[in-house]
Amino acid sequence: MKAIVLNLDSKEKIKLTDVPESILGPGEVRVKIKAAALNHRDEWSRQGLYPNLKSGVILGSDGAGVVSEIGKGVDSFWLRKEVIINAAINWGDNQSFQGKNFEILGMPRNGTFAESVVVPADRLHQKPDHLTWEEAAALPLAGLTAYRALTYQGHLEEDENVLVTGFGGGVAQFAAQFALALGAKVSISSSSSDKIKKGLKKGASFGYDYTNPKWVDQAIVDSRGGFDLIIDGAAGDSFNQLIQVCKPGGRVVFYGATRGNPGKLEARRVFWNQLKIIGSTMGSDKDFRKMLQLVERKEIHPVIDKVFPLDQAIDAFDRMRAGEQMGKIILKP
Ligand SMILES: NC(=O)c1ccc[n+]([C@@H]2O[C@H](COP(=O)([O-])OP(=O)(O)OC[C@H]3O[C@@H](n4cnc5c(N)ncnc54)[C@H](OP(=O)(O)O)[C@@H]3O)[C@@H](O)[C@H]2O)c1
Repeated sequence: MKAIVLNLDSKEKIKLTDVPESILGPGEVRVKIKAAALNHRDEWSRQGLYPNLKSGVILGSDGAGVVSEIGKGVDSFWLRKEVIINAAINWGDNQSFQGKNFEILGMPRNGTFAESVVVPADRLHQKPDHLTWEEAAALPLAGLTAYRALTYQGHLEEDENVLVTGFGGGVAQFAAQFALALGAKVSISSSSSDKIKKGLKKGASFGYDYTNPKWVDQAIVDSRGGFDLIIDGAAGDSFNQLIQVCKPGGRVVFYGATRGNPGKLEARRVFWNQLKIIGSTMGSDKDFRKMLQLVERKEIHPVIDKVFPLDQAIDAFDRMRAGEQMGKIILKP
């Protein structure tokens, strides 16, 4: 079958390759991929930024498709079912944090950028009827991350004032949509005026250009003293701006560090204003089920940026690297 394989010796670091299909183990299923979606993790892998990266692994955490084969011990109910795959494997029993055996589909385990993928059957969920294949593929990793950041970690309550930074990002898209669906007032930030316009159209109250430091003063005025909850995936030096626009007693939940570590942290403002700075990563099986229920109940449609055929994966990865996307980038075998 055709697959996008990490190839650290090649110029582009990923390559469309013919690979044999994996053999199915007990408790596993084969899913014929109808659509897969990129996460920044795939591009970080391509850039060699994770430890123990090995050439030959098929990248891709997100996918949706049809179960074509089931392994020993798997309920025949799943055969030929339309499914989405929860990429969070072996979370463990504790809702607060993932266990030692936690892994994410698509490195080190072969992932979804292929004609088919083999996953444990307990990672399957039926595809929500209201979603297209592309939308279904877009949902799992980013949707789960956004949902946990807002709810379990962020303790979001109705009518609260929420800021979602970097609205163009995959997780940010879900965070904004979910927060609106949960009854919050949502503001956004972005480096692109076009993306801000789109966010306002989708129901955001205010939009800010985070590349202009003046946004901080305006946001404090608009939010009447700061946001109750901020959801961020960038970190970096602008993290201190988030501390400035967080209301006394408020929460900043961050799930990523696209801009690296902050060079300094305004510690005094954090303790004086009784702020809570909280880290969040993907989510438990319970978080995933609840996220899916919200998506189904509110008929939420993930925002699709652009669809690429598998053989144009390099263009798709380059688009993510350049930060051009607004929503999820899709690959179709
Ligand atoms: N912990 C986890 O479980 C988890 C899960 C998923 C992702 N992540 C991490 O979270 C980050 C985002 O992931 P993603 O898949 O959503 O990536 P993505 O779709 O590539 O989003 C990146 C976005 O970051 C925004 N950004 C860049 N610099 C910024 C800044 N200084 N302030 C605010 N926003 C900024 C940009 O938004 P604009 O285009 O609007 O400017 C860009 O579109 C990555 O670092 C990823 O590794 C972590």
